[in-house]
Amino acid sequence: MNIAILGFGTVGYGVYDMASHTENLTVKYVLDLKKHEDITAKSVTDIKEILEDSSVDTVVELIGGENPAYSFIKSALLAGKNVITANKLVISKHYEELTALSKQQNVALRYTAAVGGGIPWLVNLERTLRISRVHRVRGIFNGTTNYILDAMHKDGETFEAALKEAQRLGFAEADPSSDIDGLDTQRKIAISANVAFGVLVNPDEINVSGIRSVSAEAVKDCEEHGYVCKLMAKARNKNGAISVWVEPTFVKKTSSYAAVAQNYNRISYDADHVGRGSFSGFGAGRYPTAYTVVGDCIDVANGVKKAYNSNMRPVHIDNSIVAHRYYVKTTAENDWLKENTESVWRHGVLLKPVSVGKMHEMAAEIQKTDPNIFIAGVY
Ligand code: HSE
Repeated sequence: MNIAILGFGTVGYGVYDMASHTENLTVKYVLDLKKHEDITAKSVTDIKEILEDSSVDTVVELIGGENPAYSFIKSALLAGKNVITANKLVISKHYEELTALSKQQNVALRYTAAVGGGIPWLVNLERTLRISRVHRVRGIFNGTTNYILDAMHKDGETFEAALKEAQRLGFAEADPSSDIDGLDTQRKIAISANVAFGVLVNPDEINVSGIRSVSAEAVKDCEEHGYVCKLMAKARNKNGAISVWVEPTFVKKTSSYAAVAQNYNRISYDADHVGRGSFSGFGAGRYPTAYTVVGDCIDVANGVKKAYNSNMRPVHIDNSIVAHRYYVKTTAENDWLKENTESVWRHGVLLKPVSVGKMHEMAAEIQKTDPNIFIAGVY
C-alpha cells in the first residue's frame, strides 16, 4: 500500500521510519513546510500532488492542530483516499462530517493514535463492541498531566518544574495549556464515548476541569486522606442517558489508577459479558504513537474500509444524573459550599455527594472571585 505522510515532526518522522521498514507499506510522499533531501520518499510542500496521484491509497495526517489538518483530511477523503490520523482535535470536532464522508466515499478513516497514543485502545474497544455493550469508559488519557501530578506526589516537585520537564521530554502539546486545562483529555473522552456508546456527543457539553490550580497543599490534603490525585475522564451510558466529564480525581492509594506513573496512560471499559478491560501504556511519544499509526496502516492494507462507528445517535450530555463527593480548595466564601460540606480538611473541604453538573457550575461561579479554586472528585 502506498502512503503519503502529512507532517514531518516527532510522530511524522517516527511513522516514516517505521513504515519504511514494514512489509507491504511504501511511503511515497512526505508533505512538510520545507523540503527534505535525505529521505527515500518524495518530499513535497503542496497537498495537490498527493491528491492527484491515484497510486496513493492512504493519507496519514500527522500535522496536528485544526488547520490545515482538517481541510487536508477532508480533501483526501473526497479524493477517495483512506485517511489515518492521530489528530484528536479534528476528529472530536468534526466527527459527524468526517465519519459520513468516509462512509460516502467507502474509504477508511482510522484514528487509533488520537486516543492513548501507543495504546491500541480504540481497536480493542471496537473488537469488544462486536459482541458486548459497553456502559462505562474511564481513565487517565493525558501523559503530561500524569507526569506533573506524579512528580508532585513522589518528588515534591512544583507544578512549574514538572511541566517544564514534561515539555523537555517532548510529550506536552505545543501549547501545554490544552494538556493542563484538560482539553486534550476532553477530546479523547469525546471520541471514546462516541465509539463506545454509538453516539455523537458535542465536546463543548463535557464538564472539564484541569490541573492548572493544583497546589502542594491540595496534594498534601489528598495524601493525608489516603488518596492520589489523577486527571481522569469518565463517560457513562445509563439506559441511553450519556454523562461525560473530565476532572482531577482523588483515587484510593490502592487503586490501579494510583499506580500509573510518569507519562503512562490507563484506560478502561466496563462491558456486558467481559466485565472490565483495562489498557495501559505510553500515551505519547514518537515511537509509541508511530507504532499505533503504522498498525492502522496495516489494518487498512489488510482491507479495513470504515470509520470506528458509522451509525451514531446525536445526544446531549447529562451530568445532573451522576454524583460523588468533591474536595474543594478555595479562598472564596460560599453558602452552597458550606451547606454541602461533609468535613473540613487541612487546606480544603470535602463535600457530600453532589452532581457533577452542579459542582462544575458552582466551580465556574466561584472562579469569578477565586481564579485559583481547585476541585477534585473523590471516590
Ligand atoms: N500531550 C498529549 C499527552 C500527547 O501529554 O498525553 C498525546 O496525545
